[in-house]
Amino acid sequence: MLFIFYLIIVIVGFLVPVLLGIYTVYQFLAEYKGAPYVPTSAKIVNEILKEANLKKGQIFLELGSGDGRIVRSAVKNYQVKGSAVEINLILLIYSKIISKFQKLNINFKNADFFKISFKRTDVLFIFLLPKTLKKLSPKILKECKKGCLIISHGFKIEGLSKYQIKVIERKYFPTYYYKIR
Ligand SMILES: C[S@@+](CC[C@H](N)C(=O)[O-])C[C@H]1O[C@@H](n2cnc3c(N)ncnc32)[C@H](O)[C@@H]1O
Repeated sequence: MLFIFYLIIVIVGFLVPVLLGIYTVYQFLAEYKGAPYVPTSAKIVNEILKEANLKKGQIFLELGSGDGRIVRSAVKNYQVKGSAVEINLILLIYSKIISKFQKLNINFKNADFFKISFKRTDVLFIFLLPKTLKKLSPKILKECKKGCLIISHGFKIEGLSKYQIKVIERKYFPTYYYKIR
């Protein structure tokens, strides 16, 4: 009984503040490197993926995957091969645990997406700040193969306007679809 009491004291008094501290540091790092963590609402995730016409076996890559909800939904509902990159280690560990529980095979990587290759990707999902999209645009144009679908939730990607194939308009955060030709 006393052991459980001490365990609760350690978790609440030590582990929770430490994890919150690490999480806050990662939020600053993410803001500096791309965008802070703001999740896409679950209802909108379904709408975005439905409009993407995903095909079984396609390589789906999410840049800055947050809690992993989009890549999980794509793998679960459309049987794509899911990969995701996330700089925040706490969010990445959480995503891995949830995916394991749901028995979903997803390749989660703790990295900076500017340092990974997009060459094999069929579908790229992004929800990032405009300044980051501007920096990412030359890399997308250089590395994404012909036919690659790029889904940018929230903001337009500067430099890709001639590849835009559709947009889902919303009051806040429209979703833009681009196809590389
Ligand atoms: C606006 S959130 C979007 C989260 C998720 N994609 C969603 O739509 O629910 C942006 C995410 O990108 C991550 N991020 C920012 N810069 C990054 C970078 N350079 N490399 C990897 N992940 C990054 C952040 O930690 C955050 O989780």
